[in-house]
Amino acid sequence: MKIEGKEYRTIWFDEKNQVVKIIDQTKLPHQFIIKDLKTVKDAINAIKVMEVRGAPLIGGTAAYGIVLAIMEKNDLSFIKKSSEDLAQSRPTAINLKWAIDRMMKKLSGVNNNELLKVALDEAKAICDEDVKFCENIGLNGLKIIEEIYKKKKDKVNILTHCNAGWLATINWGTATSPIYHAHKKGIPVNVWVDETRPRNQGANLTSYELNEEKIPNTIIADNTGGILMQRGEVDMCIVGTDRTLSTGDVCNKIGTYLKALAAHDNNVPFYVALPSSTIDWDIKDFKDIPIEERNSEELSHVEGLDKNNKVTKVLIYPKKSKAMNLAFDVTPAKYVTGLITEKGVCEASSEGLKSLFK
Ligand code: MRU
Repeated sequence: MKIEGKEYRTIWFDEKNQVVKIIDQTKLPHQFIIKDLKTVKDAINAIKVMEVRGAPLIGGTAAYGIVLAIMEKNDLSFIKKSSEDLAQSRPTAINLKWAIDRMMKKLSGVNNNELLKVALDEAKAICDEDVKFCENIGLNGLKIIEEIYKKKKDKVNILTHCNAGWLATINWGTATSPIYHAHKKGIPVNVWVDETRPRNQGANLTSYELNEEKIPNTIIADNTGGILMQRGEVDMCIVGTDRTLSTGDVCNKIGTYLKALAAHDNNVPFYVALPSSTIDWDIKDFKDIPIEERNSEELSHVEGLDKNNKVTKVLIYPKKSKAMNLAFDVTPAKYVTGLITEKGVCEASSEGLKSLFK
């Protein structure tokens, strides 16, 4: 995707300087800063403090984290300990565990002098595969947008929550990929972008990347979706996911569930876009999904540009108030119209998923 007309991925290996490069998402939208990750600790920290975020990008960063561990110390017990530390960096997105397991499986039995090359090739393969999968998600989701456009013959209004965009993946995004494809085909779209409190990934990241691709979008407060749906101003919702169970239950950014309830009440189709790396085939009961609880300072403090164009953080709550910051919720499969995957669109159910992923 493009930033100021220049094509970027969200993570890549810089061969010349032997470092991993990321776009520091904590600085967006006001500053575009490319940061070097030099050690596995840098990768762990980047995931924890959300310099990188979004399920597929967390997976890609973990894969490169293992590469960095090998570069630091080509020793199996250090690599194993590093993989365990990486796995602890954020609890909810299953892509983290998926990428680490895939890397460690690939490395098992490999000679020490081959480890770095094998790891680097696999981390690149994980990222390239994500790009391909997200592109296919876009092509599969495009068909749904085309159908709506054919009937409506007017601009398609799509609501999305959080950032399941280019910045959350390696390229294209999941929820945004059908939108990018529709825009490229000349279908007029307007995106309602949920602000997504408390970290404002919708406002700070989704709206930013849609602007860079010149896609019409409007930021709304998280509670505005309901009335827009009642007024007929939302044709469909598309969101991403951090972990989708084989039952079709969808774990995603806090607030997704309430949006799905409103969509259900108003007969608005509610789609979830995901690559297969986000499917958890093991957990059967959504109550067993680890839901991340983040620092309440993310709620009580807000960061923005002051009148001198300096980034400033301010307290917005009463000093004595407590706050609670659950980062994800679960939307039961019955509220999901369909899952848009790299292999096609299916019902949010074990039968639906099995029909695509044998
Ligand atoms: O806490 P975040 O910003 O990492 O949460 C991200 C989301 O909830 C996304 O919707 C999800 O990871 C899907 S990304 C394609």
